[in-house]
Amino acid sequence: MKLIKIILLVTCYIFSSALAGEIDASNEANLSESLKAGKLKAAQICSACHGLNGTAASGGNSPLVPNISGQNKDYLIVKLKEYKTNKIQHPQMSMIAQMLTDKDIEDVSNWYSSIKVEVFDPEKVLVINEID
Ligand code: HEC
Repeated sequence: MKLIKIILLVTCYIFSSALAGEIDASNEANLSESLKAGKLKAAQICSACHGLNGTAASGGNSPLVPNISGQNKDYLIVKLKEYKTNKIQHPQMSMIAQMLTDKDIEDVSNWYSSIKVEVFDPEKVLVINEID
C-alpha cells in the first residue's frame, strides 16, 4: 500500500520558506573558521546520513536517522562525546564519533546548531493523507 502525504501550507510565505532548506555549498563568505571547518566535516562525513543541512533525507534509511539541524550545540557535543566514549553504543555513530577530534566535534556541532529551523503549529497547517 502506498501512502502519499500531501501537505498544503496555508500561505505562500510559509510554503516557500519550508522549501528553502537547501544549503548553498559555495556561499561561505559569512562563515567563521569554526563554521567552515564544521561544514567541511559535515559534507565529508555526516551528510551521507544526516544531510548537509541536518535533515535526514538521504541514504535511504532516513526513518532511523535523526534530524540534527537547529539542535542545541551543547546537546550535539554531549551526544557525540557519548558515542565516542561508548557511553552510547550504536554500530554507525560510535564508529563515526571515534573518527572525530574534540575540535571536529566542536565544529560540526557549531555547524548543525547554527542551521535554523522554523516551527509550525499543526493547527495552522492543513494535512491531507491520500491512501491508495
Ligand atoms: C552512516 C550514517 C551516519 C553518518 C555518516 C552519521 N550519522 Fe549521526 N546518526 C546516525 C544514526 C542512525 C543515528 C541514530 C543513532 C541511535 O539511534 O543511537 C545518529 C545519531 C546522531 C546524533 C544523536 C542525535 C540525537 O538526538 O540523539 C548526533 C548528534 C549525530 N548523529 C551527529 C552526527 C555527526 C556530527 C556526523 C558526522 C561527523 C554523523 N552523525 C554521521 C547515522 C549517521
